[in-house]
Amino acid sequence: MAKIIAISNQKGGVGKTTTAINLAASLAANDLRVLLIDCDPQGNSTTGLGIEKGTEKPTFYEALIHQVPLSEVIVKTDCEGLSLAPADKNLVAANLELVQDPRREYRLMNALAPLKDRFDYILIDCPPALDLLTLNALVAADSVLVPIQCEFFALEGISQLIDTIDKIREAFARPLKLEGILLTMYDDRTNLARQVADDLKEFFENEVFTTVIPRSIRLAEAPSYGKPILMYDPRSKGAESYIRLAKEILENEQRNRQATQSVG
Ligand SMILES: Nc1ncnc2c1ncn2[C@@H]1O[C@H](COP(=O)(O)OP(=O)(O)O)[C@@H](O)[C@H]1O
Ligand SMILES: [Mg+2]
Repeated sequence: MAKIIAISNQKGGVGKTTTAINLAASLAANDLRVLLIDCDPQGNSTTGLGIEKGTEKPTFYEALIHQVPLSEVIVKTDCEGLSLAPADKNLVAANLELVQDPRREYRLMNALAPLKDRFDYILIDCPPALDLLTLNALVAADSVLVPIQCEFFALEGISQLIDTIDKIREAFARPLKLEGILLTMYDDRTNLARQVADDLKEFFENEVFTTVIPRSIRLAEAPSYGKPILMYDPRSKGAESYIRLAKEILENEQRNRQATQSVG
């Protein structure tokens, strides 16, 4: 049964897509079956994995709005074990088209249901907004991973995201967990980055991943080659950090499972 993780922060440019692509590839490198859902009309996860946009093939939009089964939308990537539900700018219309549907927040959850046995992990790359696409992702997800860029306004908007997570738990009766806060684009040469990282750790305590993603040119270059960092430059610091993040998530999962077993 797949574990579904939404990667969300309504701020743009904080490292959601970079994390979605590279965490997905790193989990797949652990011999896991991974599906990445590109839930952002910008389609950056799609391009970043080398999948062509604007073809005749149905995309995530058709799965969400026109009931095309997700299994018909999914494509394999060059990365062994990693599949993608691609998106393009058509997905912009989804927010408007969903408004009329009384079950509008459950579309993605329902679309994913038949696929849960085919994958070990399903990651959802969210758009930079708390819109209906993000709500669909949060309702479908078991947990949410929040990338935060180590900069001065890092905490701005986070309380709104935390409120939304609480609302999903109550209004939609979903056991949405916080997978963790991920510090991204960390530059240990600057005092500001260190200060912000310390503040975030104090504020979120043990919700912050031990793994920190460094600022790295190689991570920023990789998508223009349509490759995850593991394929573009596997020995780089960026690749190393996402491999460590995958390991940390797998270890947390194992610990939770053991805790549940000893209770039950
Ligand atoms: N660790 C990093 N080091 C350097 N550049 C990064 C890093 N993470 C992301 N970037 C770059 O920052 C920009 C925004 O990242 P992205 O993952 O697209 O954010 P989001 O999906 O939250 O908008 C992109 O140009 C990306 O290549
Ligand atoms: Mg993005």
